[in-house]
Amino acid sequence: MSGTTQEETTELRKRQAQFAKELHGEDAGSKTGLTALFSKNKSAQKEAVAKYLKHWDGKTDAEAEDRRLEDYNESTHSYYNVVTDFYEYGWGSSFHFSRFYKGETFFASVARHEHYLAYKAGIKEGDLVLDVGCGVGGPAREIARFTGANIIGLNNNDYQIAKAKYYSKKFHLEDQLDFVKGDFMNMDFEPATFDKVYAIEATCHAPKLEGVYGEIYKVLKPGGVFAVYEWVMTDKYDASNPEHRKIAYEIELGDGIPKMFECDVARKALKNVGFEVLVDDDLADNDDEIPWYAPLSGDWKYIQNISDLSTFVRTSYLGRKLTNAMVSVMERLGFAPEGSVKVTQALEEAAVGLVAGGEAKLFTPMMLFVAKKPLDAK
Ligand SMILES: C[S@@+](CC[C@H](N)C(=O)[O-])C[C@H]1O[C@@H](n2cnc3c(N)ncnc32)[C@H](O)[C@@H]1O
Repeated sequence: MSGTTQEETTELRKRQAQFAKELHGEDAGSKTGLTALFSKNKSAQKEAVAKYLKHWDGKTDAEAEDRRLEDYNESTHSYYNVVTDFYEYGWGSSFHFSRFYKGETFFASVARHEHYLAYKAGIKEGDLVLDVGCGVGGPAREIARFTGANIIGLNNNDYQIAKAKYYSKKFHLEDQLDFVKGDFMNMDFEPATFDKVYAIEATCHAPKLEGVYGEIYKVLKPGGVFAVYEWVMTDKYDASNPEHRKIAYEIELGDGIPKMFECDVARKALKNVGFEVLVDDDLADNDDEIPWYAPLSGDWKYIQNISDLSTFVRTSYLGRKLTNAMVSVMERLGFAPEGSVKVTQALEEAAVGLVAGGEAKLFTPMMLFVAKKPLDAK
């Protein structure tokens, strides 16, 4: 957000907070999933959908990309205003992928993925930790319980912050957790504040990775560690191949990402801002019997456990078609706000792109980097 003044930032925050109240209502935190969706302010929802989709017109030329990169803040804010309820309905309160062991339930695998990141970052009891792009706080709650650390979640979406705060009260984690509004490209924290920083599938929303990584570097104490599951296109990706570009575009459109970067861009960005990279490991590059994209694939052979059936029914191809049909009827009857179907269609495109990208190993949602701010950093 270079060139943005403090007044402009304050004004944007005020506007986004007001809009969130108008759209989701005063008691936003407590409603979830389809109940929340069906109780939106209808005209505000229409505006939010329009704001999100305005940059995704099928174009992938440099000019179209620049427009998306320039508007990353409002565009991502609008995206999460309209998809958060669908995410919670389909996936739960941790908005990320994970690896699966044979026989492991969906939710056990999600929690294990979070524990693994906390372990790799070396998070321990008493640490002050920043969760960059914290969603509704699912990972922060799990990592706080797992490690005993104190965690601050940073997010630019007011609705998700309201939900994260509601859940930490509900689960009696208020002493360990706090959630604050902010843009990860322009953080308000004092330099050298945090012992550890982690980010799960969030920094891909940045218009420039040096921007967000540089802010993380700044707020980490010298010797502090940053661990991230990054969404990137792998070394197999060729941007000049139309089939490859189509997959990346589907992921960008359906996930509100201004531009999918290649792995090497992320690797270099970490080094450029001063980090020493300790771990560089694509966790999706493996021969797992059950791939990370299994819940989206619609392939019944991946169901391992009776308790996974309900998740599978909501997230699989068939389940998504059913949700789409239901939302379409509800929208026509006036129960679901206008634009809801457009959102489910965009999410469908994302699912198709994610599975295709995963199968061809062109894309990974779990590029693990662990990076250290040198002890002698200024
Ligand atoms: C896919 S979600 C992941 C959320 C969370 N890490 C999890 O795993 O449940 C991406 C998150 O990044 C947040 N985000 C996107 N752009 C942001 C920005 N510029 N500043 C702060 N947060 C941002 C979104 O609001 C959303 O909460």
